[in-house]
This record gives sequence, C-alpha cells and structure tokens, in this order.
Amino acid sequence: MAAQNLQSVPAEPTGQAPASAATTEADAAGQAHFDRVIAEDSRIEPKDWMPAAYRKTLLRQISQHAHSEIIGMQPEANWITRAPSLKRKSILMAKVQDEAGHGLYLYSAAETLGQTRDKMMDDLIAGKARYSSIFNYPALSWADMGAIGWLVDGAAICNQVPLCRASYGPYGRAMVRICKEESFHQRQGFEILLELSNGTEAQKQMAQDAVNRWYAPALMMFGPPDDDSPNSKQSMAWNIKRFSNDELRSRFVGMMVEQVKVLGLTLPDDQVRYNEDTKKWEHGPLDWHEFQEVLAGRGPCNAQRLERRREAHDDGAWVREAAAAYAAKQLNKQKEYAA
Ligand SMILES: [Fe+2]
Ligand SMILES: [Fe+2]
Repeated sequence: MAAQNLQSVPAEPTGQAPASAATTEADAAGQAHFDRVIAEDSRIEPKDWMPAAYRKTLLRQISQHAHSEIIGMQPEANWITRAPSLKRKSILMAKVQDEAGHGLYLYSAAETLGQTRDKMMDDLIAGKARYSSIFNYPALSWADMGAIGWLVDGAAICNQVPLCRASYGPYGRAMVRICKEESFHQRQGFEILLELSNGTEAQKQMAQDAVNRWYAPALMMFGPPDDDSPNSKQSMAWNIKRFSNDELRSRFVGMMVEQVKVLGLTLPDDQVRYNEDTKKWEHGPLDWHEFQEVLAGRGPCNAQRLERRREAHDDGAWVREAAAAYAAKQLNKQKEYAA
C-alpha cells in the first residue's frame, strides 16, 4: 500500500519542567549528539536521546503509515474471491498479505518510540488516528486492482523510496523491505491493466475507467501543496522527509506519463506538461476540498473501513488471548528451568 504523506505534527518546544542540573546537562549532551547525527546525515536509534517533538512527529507519521497499510488491505481483499483466475487470486492474496506485513514492520518501528501497539490500534478503531485518504475510495471493478497497484502503490514507492534514508533507524530499515515489495505490487497492477487494455473493447474501457477514478486521489497521496504544508520544513530539517510534496508529485506524474503510453490508456488530465523552465512535470488542478473532507472522515468509504477494522479486531481477540497465554506459559517454563 501506500502511505500518503500525512501531515506531521508541528514542531514544538520540548516543554520540559525545570530540571536538575544533571538532567539539563544530559539533555544538552543529547541535543548535541542529535544535532551532530542529523548534520552528518547519519541515524538516530531508539536508545539515543531525541527531541520530544522529533519523537512525536515520528510516532505520528509511522503509526499513520502503519494504519494505512492495514486499512489499505480492504479495497483489494474485497476482490480476492472475485479474481478472474486462480493465478490472479494467488497474486492478489500475496499482495494483500504483504500489506499486513508492512503494517507489522511499521507498528514495530513505532513501538520503539515508546507507544504500545494496543494504544495505536485503539486510536485507529476509535476513529482518532488518521490513515491515507486513498483507501476511503471504493474499488468498483476488477480493473481497480490494476489501477490501485499501478497508481496507488506507484505513488507509495515515489513517496517511500526517500524514506529508506529517514534519519530514524527503525523507520528507514522497515522502508527498505517495504519498498521492495511495493515494486512487485506496482508491477502486478501494471500487468493487470496491460492485459485488460489489450483485451476486448469493454475490458479496455474498464481499465480506462479505473485509471480515471484513481488518478486524482493518487496524486493527492503526496499531501497538500507545499504552500499549505507548514510542517514539511521541519521534517526535512530532521532528515525524515527528503523532498517536498510538490516535488514528489511532479516526479510521479512524469513517470506515469510514460507508462500510460505503454498501457495504451490515457491520464484523465489534459493539463499534464513538462515545464522546460522549472524542469518539472505539471498537472491539472486537484480538488483539495475533497481531500480534506475524506481525511476528516467524510469520504465514500470511511465508515465502512473503520467498521470492518473493528470487526476484524474483535474477531481476532481469541488469537491475541491465545498468543498471550502461550507467551505466559513459555515464560513460566523458563522460570521453572531456571529455578
Ligand atoms: Fe503495496
Ligand atoms: Fe504496503
């Protein structure tokens, strides 16, 4: 899946209460180490001192990214039973399973910042946490599996490859593996569209319709325009984010322009052009009001996605209980052996 470039929380002062001289000294040394690591473009690890705002920003970003991965399973899981062949069914199942794995890596990375997975999950199912707005759109036809893979996973790759160099070690390392799998996801989506495009006229129309519906939401995955993204600057200063939203969006459009020709389809945007002066790809206007509405929970499928997540969480209660009971039993055994 795909993590959209979710707004990170604003930078804020550490806001610590007056500390003892020893604490102040430790903080000063920690800050100096942190500044040096960032200046060297090296990595901060979980046990390192870090500014409270850096921790909070990362926790917000990584948990939102994790939520996006697991909510992102839903639009495609919806089509597993209706895949047109055994081959397509097994590929789609593998892809959806990959997304669950991405969620797992990212929840684990977020936990290293001091948040429990239970709390993150509670926030998600209570509707308090955000996830990528793209997954609140419905997957209406089999061709949507192609468009999601090609456009949504494609945008995710554009967004996430630079995150492999994020300054927080566990996040960057998780992204390396995720990006490899996202490449497979995009490829399988492209291949679905290619086959449909070379099929009957009705199949080609279905592919074009899916591209038409997913194009603009995919472009909005990069987040609001730079002028309207005040927190990006701080994230870039911390080497979490490497390129601005508009820069990444422009690169993505450039990639899609070439690939859509191979597909024999078109992008639903007659304003795509390469600007020789800025050396950037430009696109038509996007509906940012719609983006904000979907992000605020008023998209076509928000309620359904959260309801399904709640049901899945409840259905999985026995698995969590069994795993906890097994872990307790193993711990007791170890204690008995040690005694
Ligand atoms: Fe994916
Ligand atoms: Fe993913």
